Amino acid sequence: MGPVLGIAIWRLKCALNWAMVYSGAAHRYEWRHYFGDSNAITPGETPEPVLKMIALAAGFRSGMRVLDLGCGRGTALAYWSMLYGIHPIGIERVRSVAHAARLLLQSIIATSEILTGDFFGIVWPEVDAVVVSTTCFSAQDLDQLMHRYRQLPTGTVVVQISNDVPMNELKCIWRGSHRFPWGNCPISVFRCV
Ligand SMILES: C[S@@+](CC[C@H](N)C(=O)[O-])C[C@H]1O[C@@H](n2cnc3c(N)ncnc32)[C@H](O)[C@@H]1O
Repeated sequence: MGPVLGIAIWRLKCALNWAMVYSGAAHRYEWRHYFGDSNAITPGETPEPVLKMIALAAGFRSGMRVLDLGCGRGTALAYWSMLYGIHPIGIERVRSVAHAARLLLQSIIATSEILTGDFFGIVWPEVDAVVVSTTCFSAQDLDQLMHRYRQLPTGTVVVQISNDVPMNELKCIWRGSHRFPWGNCPISVFRCV
């Protein structure tokens, strides 16, 4: 499938997924539980140009197992699956959002894996790349994340789009930034050494 058709199908699938799941009462109930009275309907999703940037910088290719920590409704994983053939794995703590991710990804690849829970409390499956995108962390969360990165096998790619982190033990292979609605955000791609 060519990239133009791939992107068009991805956009259509995301729009249908939105209509099916995000307008539902279950989602609204859980949303309030997690995010209070925020007017936002979804947390920020990584935009298309950044998804492409990451895929190229991280060398996403067919069969690569990519874990999205806090995958939301799986739009990023769906994009990389459709256009780069990755095997998508996600962890999402909001149940209704994880359900949306399952629906979206199963329509692309039957063997996709979406786990529901807190990614700090779950054993991460074995993967080739770990992505953390557009989640802001406290200093304590960042420490926990660093601790988990240290345990990843050599060669694992780590993509971080978040508040910047000191990653001395990882080798930076690419660095960029993107202006999100809430401000400029660093994008880094590392390899575990
Ligand atoms: C900003 S969205 C990003 C979604 C997706 N990664 C993307 O790039 O489009 C962040 C998601 O991470 C989830 N999340 C944040 N912290 C989490 C945690 N500790 N465990 C599991 N999910 C988490 C939120 O519920 C939210 O759906």
